[in-house]
Amino acid sequence: STIDWDVVGAEIGDNAHFLIKEINEQPRTIARALSGRIDERFSTAHLGGLNMTVREAREIKRVTILGCGTACYAGELGAQLIEDLARVPATAEPASEFRYRNPVVDPNTLYVAVSQSGETIDTLAAVQELQRKGGRVIGIVNVVGSTIARQVDGGIYLHAGPEMSVAATKSFTSTVTAFALLALHLGRIRDLAPEQGRRIIAGLQMLPEQVTEILAQSDAIADIAKEIAQSNSVMFVGRRRGWPVAREGAQKLKEVSYVHAEAYPSAELKHGPLALISPEMPTVAVVPDDDLLDKNTSTLSEIKARKGPVVAMAHRELSTDIADRTLVVPRNEPELDPILMSIPLQLLAYHAAVVLGRDVDKPRNLAKSVTVE
Ligand code: AGP
Repeated sequence: STIDWDVVGAEIGDNAHFLIKEINEQPRTIARALSGRIDERFSTAHLGGLNMTVREAREIKRVTILGCGTACYAGELGAQLIEDLARVPATAEPASEFRYRNPVVDPNTLYVAVSQSGETIDTLAAVQELQRKGGRVIGIVNVVGSTIARQVDGGIYLHAGPEMSVAATKSFTSTVTAFALLALHLGRIRDLAPEQGRRIIAGLQMLPEQVTEILAQSDAIADIAKEIAQSNSVMFVGRRRGWPVAREGAQKLKEVSYVHAEAYPSAELKHGPLALISPEMPTVAVVPDDDLLDKNTSTLSEIKARKGPVVAMAHRELSTDIADRTLVVPRNEPELDPILMSIPLQLLAYHAAVVLGRDVDKPRNLAKSVTVE
């Protein structure tokens, strides 16, 4: 394999847990996902493993992404990247649902199976069902030579090194990075202009350094985590690209700290879950500085009006009548911001789990790869 085990290896070293080690590896693992894949000359991405000619890639009319848990949330961000950059309709859904609904398999759809381990049984079964019906499936997989990696018609390896902690972190950000490359490639053979390609490439190249900046805020996040750990339940909100980030943040918190969390698209709060908001239920909000900022902040004022504590991931400090605490996350291109916004949420889950004395790397009831149905 081409994995450089020394760079991001399977040893815990001086780290208290694999989880924090893997969170901290992300500047390098993102760089590895990008390594050798950026074509500056034509402002595009080189993805040799796709096994697809430009003509074939041009004929794709739709993209359907399949995965489970965190892999599926990464796929939701991937779908938005593909729609934004390539203007090809794209959706993501849990592989476990897809495989059981006798899916209509369309020859002009590109199917993408996402799996860190490459062994998840529901994802593998979805791939096999698709191939049985003549569907073209590529994989976005971390483990080289895994069952899904061998089954698919082509794909993109993450090269993130072994992920030992049950909770997926570096594989999430690497998967979204891989989707950005795929979206760039699909976009540049369609209508994405060279300067737009250059904009995305410049953003991708900035990621490792910006991730390092976020990781330096670990202590501040640990402070917030102490409060979050005392709650029975936490609300996560976001919209558009912030919505999968919120879902993943809620999943991470539940998984490693056992604190109940719900994720909602911000605008859906008023359709029901706002009834849950009280001083006892904090909200973690993903609030990028984009065209929806005003709408997002007005949702947060609704929460504050009901005395719900608010912690915001934002690009600049929000006023305290909107958020009690703001974690300022460096700004990238809007399409790539979700990669950065997800990192403080990983740290939040990690520190909450540590405060509560949980079995951080091996949460109860869970397995790293789910090879049973
Ligand atoms: C992530 O933190 C979870 N442990 C889980 O949702 C995981 O992402 C899922 O089981 C899929 O695993 P895979 O990527 O190895 O297929």
